[in-house]
Amino acid sequence: MAARIVDHDTRGAAAGAGGWSLGDSDFAFLSDFVYRHCGIVLGEHKRQLVQGRLLRRLRALDLEGFDDYVELLRTDPESELGELASAISTNVTSFFREMHHYDLLVEQLLPRWLEEKKNGGRLRIWSAGCSTGEEPYALAMVLAEALERTGSKVDARILATDLSPQALAAARAGTYPLERMGGITEARRSRWFLRGEGAYEGLACVHPRLRELVSIQPLNLLHEWPMRGPFDAIFCRNVVIYFDKPTKQRLFERYAGLLEQGGYLFLGHSESMYGLSDSFELVGRTVYRKCVP
Ligand SMILES: C[S@@+](CC[C@H](N)C(=O)[O-])C[C@H]1O[C@@H](n2cnc3c(N)ncnc32)[C@H](O)[C@@H]1O
Repeated sequence: MAARIVDHDTRGAAAGAGGWSLGDSDFAFLSDFVYRHCGIVLGEHKRQLVQGRLLRRLRALDLEGFDDYVELLRTDPESELGELASAISTNVTSFFREMHHYDLLVEQLLPRWLEEKKNGGRLRIWSAGCSTGEEPYALAMVLAEALERTGSKVDARILATDLSPQALAAARAGTYPLERMGGITEARRSRWFLRGEGAYEGLACVHPRLRELVSIQPLNLLHEWPMRGPFDAIFCRNVVIYFDKPTKQRLFERYAGLLEQGGYLFLGHSESMYGLSDSFELVGRTVYRKCVP
């Protein structure tokens, strides 16, 4: 990792801080790397964006240029993968995003599952691409309320995974600025959050009961999965938007393999399974059910 960046390609140089630019060969390597490891397609139109976002990462690592960064990825791909993915993708999320999915859970699915499993079944929900935790904790709120309402003793848990180390750290911290809690009703805020005081004024921390229900783990969706399932529902919302068709097809088939018969897959508002899988049927707005053979 010695050499100062020397990249004779000048495309993108104008935007490169201090003359650092992401040249053709480094960009080609990065695009291929990101596609193979993250399923994200980086077209030429993304070059400036990638360059801008990675410059921060280069500074944090005290590297001298993109060729050093490419060298790091070549020699130790696993260690940097999460940071790279964080830099180029978005972690935007919010509590109770796409509320109609939670309505379906509260009104139909949770009461049905808790009734079906009351004599000893397990209820498992996976938030795949959980970002900073708002999605799994919102799921935990509706799950905890359903358990309380019915007095159910069903063994119920939520698995929350992501490949971004920063997102996972924030999810584990479970502490949010009040202004990011707009999607939560006042009743839920006071039931499921502890308000910060003094130095923590303006922050709220998730209730230990929610933490108990949620297990937060690192996982790249394109790599091996250690869990066996089965899951009753998988939330993979606003994640596959960056993936190309073959990557989405493979992922949906793997989800089908881990879901219960009749289990549910929830996608994000701009995502669709149309033409990508015969294993699911559309049963609601971006809600799919695994077909029973
Ligand atoms: C826009 S956020 C969506 C968060 C949440 N699901 C929601 O809908 O609000 C997308 C998340 O997917 C994660 N992600 C992207 N590619 C991934 C991959 N290959 N494996 C695991 N997580 C991935 C990103 O790190 C990011 O946190």
